[in-house]
Amino acid sequence: MSKISAAITAVGAYVPEFVLTNAMLENMVETNDEWITTRTGIKERRILKAEGKGTSFLAIKAAQNLIQKASLDPATIDLVIVATATPDMKAASTASYTSTQIGATNAFSYDMDSACSSFLFGMSTAASYIESGRYKKILLIGADKMSSIVNYKDRATCIIFGDGAGAVLFEPNEENLGLQDEYLRTDGSGRSFLQATYGGSSHPITHDVLDNGGHYAFQEGRTVFKNAVSNMAGAAVKILERNKLTKDHVQWLAAHQANKRIIDATANRMGLEDDKVMLNIEKYGNTTSATLPLLINDYEDQLKKGDNIIFAAFGGGFSWGAIYLKWAYTKTKTN
Ligand code: UT7
Repeated sequence: MSKISAAITAVGAYVPEFVLTNAMLENMVETNDEWITTRTGIKERRILKAEGKGTSFLAIKAAQNLIQKASLDPATIDLVIVATATPDMKAASTASYTSTQIGATNAFSYDMDSACSSFLFGMSTAASYIESGRYKKILLIGADKMSSIVNYKDRATCIIFGDGAGAVLFEPNEENLGLQDEYLRTDGSGRSFLQATYGGSSHPITHDVLDNGGHYAFQEGRTVFKNAVSNMAGAAVKILERNKLTKDHVQWLAAHQANKRIIDATANRMGLEDDKVMLNIEKYGNTTSATLPLLINDYEDQLKKGDNIIFAAFGGGFSWGAIYLKWAYTKTKTN
């Protein structure tokens, strides 16, 4: 019997309707379209405005999109993982609510968080369950409502982040398609450079914290930028080397969409031409856990069975890594 590998067999996505443009941000903080475009590559991002709706709203929509596209019976899903840095609530997982709402009545579910690396690390978790033979259908959703922790008076963060969600289905594959290799790392000494400090167990919310905006995400952009370039590119190159892949073996780079300059630097280190680099940062900004599945969803029509894709991410923690995955299907007009 051939070895079981874990392949992505379906994708879906959702972004909210409201579009926050660079021009709108010019009226909110001291910034301008030219600066944002040249320093980040972002033109607009989507924001979830609906009162009382959290990350689960985005996750449910993305999952429903996948279920509908793939004609999947949700009762056949074994496990639902929601990768997110902005869960609905501190207690009661976003995944439990999401899985029930989508009709995954035979599944168990849980949340996973490693900031912007949540989805990448979730791919490893989902694939391991499949490779072990323990489960057959795992829905991995990357979803974040970043607008819930962004300070729209802080130009270092509010120009970058957006809301969105994407979902992929992992299933067993006997043709050796799917996840091939991974290089994943964390370094806690970086946590002071990118964090939402207050509201957790070490620094609970107080009136003073709220008055001073301490519950919002904060980053020291330049330090995060430097570490993102060296670590994300380093991980991607390591994955190429140890799998004896040259740039010609790689069809696509799916890199976390935090800053176009970080993505370009990673592609350069890998020697990849621009047309192999998936890009949608200009329309969604940095959606944290949703960037990778949103890319896969946007590029799904161009992917071919057997394509070698390198996924890469970097995020708070610090956390980072790269995954080498062989794409498992070519989309036809009927699917
Ligand atoms: O997804 C998780 C990981 N996150 C990231 O990977 C984000 C990494 N960091 C970045 O993407 C970039 O550091 C930023 C986009 C956040 C900032 O870009 P930068 O090129 O690192 O700018 P900087 O912070 O070094 O600032 C350069 C200048 C400064 O002015 P001076 O001191 O040179 O006069 C800033 O005050 O740009 C100024 N500046 C702005 N100007 C207009 C900073 N933010 C803005 C802004 N609009 N929004």
